[in-house]
Amino acid sequence: MFNDKKFFKNFTIEYNNITTKKQLDNLRIKYLGKKGLIPCYIKQFQFLILIERKYFCKKLNDIKKKIQNLIKKKEIFFKDFDINQTCNIKKIDISLPGRKKYIGCMHPITSMIYYIESIFCKLGFQIIYNGLEIEDQYHNFDALNMPVTHPARNTQDTFWFNANSLLRTQTSNMQIHALEKKILPIKIIVPGKVYRKDYDQTHSPMFHQIEGLIIDKGINFSNLKWIISNFLRIFFGKDMNVRFRASYFPFTVLSAEVDIMNCCNTWLEVLGCGMVHPNILNRFNINPDIYSGLAFGMGIERLIMLYYGVNDLRLFLKNDLKFLQQFKIGRYY
Ligand code: DAH
Repeated sequence: MFNDKKFFKNFTIEYNNITTKKQLDNLRIKYLGKKGLIPCYIKQFQFLILIERKYFCKKLNDIKKKIQNLIKKKEIFFKDFDINQTCNIKKIDISLPGRKKYIGCMHPITSMIYYIESIFCKLGFQIIYNGLEIEDQYHNFDALNMPVTHPARNTQDTFWFNANSLLRTQTSNMQIHALEKKILPIKIIVPGKVYRKDYDQTHSPMFHQIEGLIIDKGINFSNLKWIISNFLRIFFGKDMNVRFRASYFPFTVLSAEVDIMNCCNTWLEVLGCGMVHPNILNRFNINPDIYSGLAFGMGIERLIMLYYGVNDLRLFLKNDLKFLQQFKIGRYY
């Protein structure tokens, strides 16, 4: 028959010999587990007469409680022991410097785009952001007065997807999208990415341009000169020497390239501009005798390089934090 004293004594002997957490777990399973000794005895007590069953069940329950308490006690002991040990091994070195949290900042190219936008905003331009980078040849070339046979197409080394789609080589494609909407007057600038097969110190396969377009009644070359000269003087400083040099672009007539003079008295080209070609206006049924337009396009990276005196464009694209953090202060608009 069940002998409670002997049962508990056996447990205590085993209990006192325990030295590890694993042994404790095994002991708990042996006595309290689903198929452990205590549930086994309870099952056996079913066959006793009621009065005996009550007597033994009570004894067993008392022992069960004692065992549970003892096991809990040792569990706490092992837990504390573990914590103390890890603390001893992994001592916290309070003399180590803390981990600094760095505040991110805008990439200098983004920051420069915002700065240029802010200047044109003050001049009443609307900014268009949804520039299309995957384009068809109609918008990138044909409609800009550059048919298939036009030699200027070769100067813009194009990434073609197929015979018709390409990665746009210039933000001038947005001139066509703006004209298609047929809402006059137009006075927009469009910043965005453009792509050409080029890679060296001053070129990368992806770069940024800002396109400007005004179509209205009575727009003339003086307006263009005023806008561009003022923009460049706000951007580079009010004493900046600016020069307009006659040039050629298929989509403008009068066309000009604009140079600024650097500290070594050398002229440096910064952008292209001109009066919108009547062919383009005619294509959209805009009468060139009533409406005229001016357009300009500039490479952001080129402006940045001149502005900060950086001579390798690739530095801006390398994600080298040491280089980029120099521009952290950025500009405030
Ligand atoms: N799209 C020209 C280029 O990528 C830049 C340009 C020149 C844009 C003259 C213009 C412009 O709008 O009038 O080289």
